[in-house]
Amino acid sequence: MAFNLLNKDIDTLTCPALVVFSKSPSQKDKLAKVTHNELNKQLVDSISEKTITGKHQEAITFREFNISGYRHLIVVGLGKENEITHESVRQSVASALEAIKALNVKEAALHFDGITVSKKDAASFAKAVAEGLVLTSYVFDELKSTTKAKKAEDELNVHVVTKMAADKAVKAAFHEGSVLANVVNFSRRLGDMPGNLMTPTILADSAVAAAKGITNLKVTVWDKARIKKEKMGGLLGVAAGSDQEPRFIIMEYKGAAASKKPVCFVGKGLTFDCGGISIKPGAGMEEMKYDMCGGANVIGTLLAIAQLKLKVNAVGLVASTENLINGSATKPGDVHTARNGKTFEVNNTDAEGRLILADALSYATELAPQVICDAATLTGAMVVALGNTHTGYFTRNTALKSKIEKAAVQSGEWVWNMPLTDFHVKDMKGVYADLSNISAGKGAGSATAAAFLEQFVGEEIPWAHFDIAGTGWAVGNRLPYAPKKGASGAMIRTFVEVAKQYV
Ligand code: BES
Ligand code: ZN
Ligand code: ZN
Repeated sequence: MAFNLLNKDIDTLTCPALVVFSKSPSQKDKLAKVTHNELNKQLVDSISEKTITGKHQEAITFREFNISGYRHLIVVGLGKENEITHESVRQSVASALEAIKALNVKEAALHFDGITVSKKDAASFAKAVAEGLVLTSYVFDELKSTTKAKKAEDELNVHVVTKMAADKAVKAAFHEGSVLANVVNFSRRLGDMPGNLMTPTILADSAVAAAKGITNLKVTVWDKARIKKEKMGGLLGVAAGSDQEPRFIIMEYKGAAASKKPVCFVGKGLTFDCGGISIKPGAGMEEMKYDMCGGANVIGTLLAIAQLKLKVNAVGLVASTENLINGSATKPGDVHTARNGKTFEVNNTDAEGRLILADALSYATELAPQVICDAATLTGAMVVALGNTHTGYFTRNTALKSKIEKAAVQSGEWVWNMPLTDFHVKDMKGVYADLSNISAGKGAGSATAAAFLEQFVGEEIPWAHFDIAGTGWAVGNRLPYAPKKGASGAMIRTFVEVAKQYV
């Protein structure tokens, strides 16, 4: 599938399918309105009979409508004019794309100028349209032997038609939305690949391959011997139970003067988490292939920052391993030493994410960055607390908190600030070592995990931890542009917005 901005008048184009939009009646109007005057007249019966209501995401296809240069017509609802937002538009164009796909055409035109409320909003809506279309186009079917039916879809070309396509800001915004959504799709694929086909080695190789040809982006991968040399005892302790070698992935983007401190992103890249000796129940365990989504999304974040050529220095760090049970696996009670010298008792081998992040955060601290944001599918407790709409984040830094809230408004992703206090830190004190990897108390499982991570971050560095356990995959049918079951790419767009604030 391909999407492009087309500088044309919708009335002078020839294309097999046309998508126009309709708006729900406002208080003063009784009926919906289609965003194209001529069609508004032609569809008067459907409008007055209320088969076209303009309701958000409503998609009505008129096959063989044969109007001017168009064979088929699709009318997609935007909702009430004063309720149109970037997010509602991402969702509306998702409905539009599904309706286009059902027509089995190779080309379609989308009437962009019918969406925008005013000229000044055109750029930001162009970004939302690009995001909505590209995000919706994602399918993960490469492991099926029969993908023939997909061919028509693959060849589909959607033109986003607007008289403003020559406008620099509109063009740049459409490009930005496309880059972001393509990167999200790239990271979704990494997450959707099963554990046998997405090992730590493959994850690292994928980062290297994706960065190839992108200016000012360098990827370094540490193997097990190097990880040992670098004293990453947490990552090694978890990897001890696996026949697959761990990897530590370092992505460095230089977009500003060398003297400028980087912004740093850290990800949990657990390519399969069976829990280790504290083994997980069998039901649903296959979903633990997604335990590397934090890592995949950090890789995506760096790819996006570099492709958008942001004027920042940025570093992405991904600690990657499996958590399995061979004869050398870490046992409950074992003590390991993290890179920063702190020791911890592993009282539950299933609380492994925090152990590998301990080393990654210690290393991040050594880079003296302006900020560290980490993403991890860290705790089941986060799923219980917030479900799959909001990503819970933890920070004690109020300035960073404001930056994150602003970033999330810009990106359209939902975040929720969670508590992190000295009470939670106290719960993670060890008996035989500095720390225990599970809490002495009951409840607040996500906050105590965050408190554990905090022990590995330099006190002077603004840091936030994003627990994407609930939002990393399987967001249900809540978002029409995200797979019902499958990796979501959560926080990539928000992290890019955070990075922009350090330009
Ligand atoms: N990867 C899991 C967290 C997880 C669970 C993510 C369910 C998404 C859905 C993590 O490694 C884990 O198992 N955490 C334990 C920690 C506990 C033993 C303190 C958990 O949440 O149960
Ligand atoms: Zn686990
Ligand atoms: Zn895990």
